[in-house]
Amino acid sequence: MITFNSPYFKLETKDLNYVIEVLATGQIEHLYLGKKLNDTNYDALKTKLNASAGSTIDYVSGDDKTSLDLLTLEYSGIGKGDYRLTPLEVKMPDGSYVTDFVYESHEIKDGIIENKELPQAKTNDKKVKSLVIKMKDRKFNIELDLIYSVFFDSNVFTRKVIIHNNEKQELNIRKIMSMMIDLSESDYNLITFDGGWIKETHKHIRPLTYGTYINDSTTGNSSNRHNPGIILAKKTTHEDYGVCIGINLVYSGNHYEAVQISNHGLLRVMTGINPHCFEWPLKKGESFETPEAVLTYSDQGLNKLSQSFHDFINHHITPRQFQETKRLVALNSWEAFFFKYNHKKLKGLANQASHLGVELFVLDDGWFGTRNDDTQGLGDYDVNYKKLPKGLNGIADYVHKLGMKFGLWFEPEMVNPESKLFRSHPEYAIQIEGRIPSVGRNQLVLDLCNHKVRDYIVEQISLILETTEIDYIKWDMNRHIADMYSSYVEDQGMFFHSYILGLYDILNRITTKYPQVIIESCSSGGNRYDLGMLTYSPQIWASDNTDPIERLKIQQGLSYLYPQSTISAHVSMAPHTQTLRKTPLSTRFNVASFGILGYELDLKFVTPIEKKEIKKQIELYKAYRHVFQYGKFYRFNSADSNHQKWQVSHDDIHILGNYQSLSHSSPDFEVIHMKELDENTNYQIHSVQQTMSIKRFGHLISYALPIKLNVDGMLMKYISRHKQLDNATESFEASGRLLNAGFKPKQQFMGTGYSDQVRLLGDYGSQIYIAEKKKNEVLS
Ligand code: GLA
Repeated sequence: MITFNSPYFKLETKDLNYVIEVLATGQIEHLYLGKKLNDTNYDALKTKLNASAGSTIDYVSGDDKTSLDLLTLEYSGIGKGDYRLTPLEVKMPDGSYVTDFVYESHEIKDGIIENKELPQAKTNDKKVKSLVIKMKDRKFNIELDLIYSVFFDSNVFTRKVIIHNNEKQELNIRKIMSMMIDLSESDYNLITFDGGWIKETHKHIRPLTYGTYINDSTTGNSSNRHNPGIILAKKTTHEDYGVCIGINLVYSGNHYEAVQISNHGLLRVMTGINPHCFEWPLKKGESFETPEAVLTYSDQGLNKLSQSFHDFINHHITPRQFQETKRLVALNSWEAFFFKYNHKKLKGLANQASHLGVELFVLDDGWFGTRNDDTQGLGDYDVNYKKLPKGLNGIADYVHKLGMKFGLWFEPEMVNPESKLFRSHPEYAIQIEGRIPSVGRNQLVLDLCNHKVRDYIVEQISLILETTEIDYIKWDMNRHIADMYSSYVEDQGMFFHSYILGLYDILNRITTKYPQVIIESCSSGGNRYDLGMLTYSPQIWASDNTDPIERLKIQQGLSYLYPQSTISAHVSMAPHTQTLRKTPLSTRFNVASFGILGYELDLKFVTPIEKKEIKKQIELYKAYRHVFQYGKFYRFNSADSNHQKWQVSHDDIHILGNYQSLSHSSPDFEVIHMKELDENTNYQIHSVQQTMSIKRFGHLISYALPIKLNVDGMLMKYISRHKQLDNATESFEASGRLLNAGFKPKQQFMGTGYSDQVRLLGDYGSQIYIAEKKKNEVLS
């Protein structure tokens, strides 16, 4: 709901209010973001400017109390006394950078305000309303629309800005943020999600103090360095308690979030396209729209904040045809074979995968052109008949006959200099005449600003989709952009943004033509994990790192901003390729199942007993798929970095993952507090049965088995392929109130003897507990 009770606008979601005021001077003051208020007069929220302040600049001459520098504004500009970080830098028709936009009029509309080129949150929900505040520059006929939408049920507000040039002269936009808010209090921590390849979205918390902190990317995509999603959290806030504000951006290119604490402890926060190398000329009659910023608030801690983001993404960002649909259990050929495979090997892998219950078989890199390693072939999407003598259809049909869907890898935005495409169209690649182009993974980036390149990509992908039954595309993008230049943009300051508009154009065309094909976005893992990509691809490959202990950090970081239904997570071999860490198969599953479960390993090297375990894992995942993928997600405040827990809850089912990185000798007793179970009902709770490899015991096996065995002997080898040690399982009944208050699981193994009453966790051990509400058992 949006109401205007002059001079106040009140934007209302299910639980939140956002209140702003049109000041007599024409600026928009930010008054409130928080829990619903029932007041009609908001004077008490206004910043009181009753004393003139030293060197500040008066906005209106004669009024020495009002300075833009001291107000909590909704947007600002340069040259009228606000010396904080600006959201807008435009070279105006008179050559100056001074702008002075003031309120002109407003409109309240049903639904969203459609973007022309950029992706955005979509809805059919009648409760979604939008507000357009038209601001006009005091000197020039240039308008600035501040656009707000209210996503009622998700507790989310979105914001964006459109600038219109109605002057004869050209404007030059150098910086235009999607959103800015000034808060009156500054006792916040800033939480960001940072990293790099194979260590994406690690959470970092920093106390804010006077000055500016910038979270951005300059790589050409949203990047694995700093995710566009940020959180401001009051210093005492934790997972279940306290005030926090979450901000994200529906954009896949260079982004920029700045937080500044300045004058009198005012906190300014903004997000938008990164002004780095950005310059956008705007001719008479032209407009420029910014990406959509997403904003939510919680006074009940970070879990609640994340749940609002998750709800919003699941209902308004995910492509409509994939909303609430089941995400399929995949087997991906990459870590099984890398580039070295043929029709027979793929058939063998597919056969075994289908026996285990896999639903989607993905043929990764290496199926086209001369793509036998990563030095060649990108750009040439014609099938490699040496590897696949029966063509793509040969393997796709085979997979379909086995009852699985078939997926295929592409890296559409790239070209290897060693390719037919590059030889015939070197001008398709981004490079600058007179400079040697810088390659990454032996490849160059295609110039998506060029419409011929976009047509080429759409044609190539369409050709494959028309001739082979493809159910899923893995859309990869494996390098950052360098040598930024395109002869297809009029100003090189337009390059980065035009590249992203080009990408969205391609994705629009492909997804409109083939709406049922699932796209899984990937960029060397999570190098482009953002809301822009999620409007086309319902799921994203979170990281090339599949080590479950590393994934705990990566998936935990993602969970603050993105729901499990988007997080693609695979079980791979141990020892792990990147960390050399040997983790139990159960833990690999226990982590991957809190996302979209998949497998990425050569099943030839998996023992019969492990295959049995995988089959059971997939059965369990399918039985509780909706809870894992769409359940409410909870993180736990952990007392130490060695332990972590997650919970997902849907209707009457609650699943808890309990993870331990390193085991301690004589460990503390554990108490497991479940979250938000119905206090007035009984639950049946059990831990999922899992086993531990006998090999993990080495020479200590005599503690566990009645017979003496040679650790390196044939018998030990044979037994370990067919027999594993059972872990203690637990199954009992308890009230929701008791489970919330905390139950005590069985003790962990401590070297004093093995029995089926001790939990075998050890290093990298974990367990899953499932609590299901007992029907008709309401407690008084
Ligand atoms: C990237 C992806 C991997 C895999 C390879 C193939 O690294 O992140 O999952 O698809 O490319 O070359």
